[in-house]
Amino acid sequence: MKKLLNISDLNQNDFDEIINYAESLGNEKLLTNKNIGLIFEKNSTRTRLSFQVGINQLNGNYIDVRFEELNLNRFESYEDTFEVMSCYLDYLVFRTTDHKKLELAYKFFKKPIINALSDISHPCQAISDMYTLKERFGTLNNLNIIWMGDMNNVLFSLIEVIAFAKNTKVDVFTDEKIFLKSKDIFNLNDNINFHFEINESIISKGNCIMTDVFTSMNDKEDKENTLSKFQVNDQIMSLTNDESVFMHCLPAKIGSEVSEDVIKGEKSIVLAQARNRLVAQKGILKWLSI
Ligand code: CP
Ligand code: NVA
Repeated sequence: MKKLLNISDLNQNDFDEIINYAESLGNEKLLTNKNIGLIFEKNSTRTRLSFQVGINQLNGNYIDVRFEELNLNRFESYEDTFEVMSCYLDYLVFRTTDHKKLELAYKFFKKPIINALSDISHPCQAISDMYTLKERFGTLNNLNIIWMGDMNNVLFSLIEVIAFAKNTKVDVFTDEKIFLKSKDIFNLNDNINFHFEINESIISKGNCIMTDVFTSMNDKEDKENTLSKFQVNDQIMSLTNDESVFMHCLPAKIGSEVSEDVIKGEKSIVLAQARNRLVAQKGILKWLSI
């Protein structure tokens, strides 16, 4: 049974297929007679809409399942809830506050399931960002990605996904306490390096400077002050070369992790990233359906 809870659910062949499908897919009628449930326990603009429009374009039906209205919120178990859903639905797209809920859903749903973001992982974003990097640089190999700020779900999946590129590295600039608290859940390897102070020489080699909100939807702790020195602003971008780009999965908290000049500036490709969410979702849906 195919699933996409984390990038580590994919092998190189799966990943290559998704990217190839995304690059070549028109509006084929791949999802005819397929009913796809969308559960968003947390807010979403891009992920929800790109799945809805992608499913429409591939001739499928989506059903918005309102999490708060499910009997799961009264006394019904995960087992009964998701077993019953698999009587009606063909696939499930699930955004949740707790990755364990996603694993329970997978256990009982018995059909393909896609993580639309959990507290620890955002695989659809990582696939889409790889698509955007390839579109921009013509390759996923030999790139230097600089990540500034929090160690969150988007970074978790980015670190997993670069295993599918050759000689691409991620240099993470973050706070040491956050690193010590988070490192054990990350799948770290020699291509990922951590820094606790700004290092101009390393940043100047970045093809891409990437960041995300300092405080995510799930975070109980406000990290704005702790991470403020890692804001991506003109000073940081001026270290980079002419071809380098700024990326952010959005939504952005302008003035916090990124300055307005940078996110609206000429190196920013955040709108291409957002646009490519639709392309990548269709690649994922095709991979799931064949
Ligand atoms: N980047 C992203 O997942 O955006 P949404 O939270 O709006 O879906
Ligand atoms: N890290 C962010 C990503 C939003 C798309 C969050 O979880 O809130």
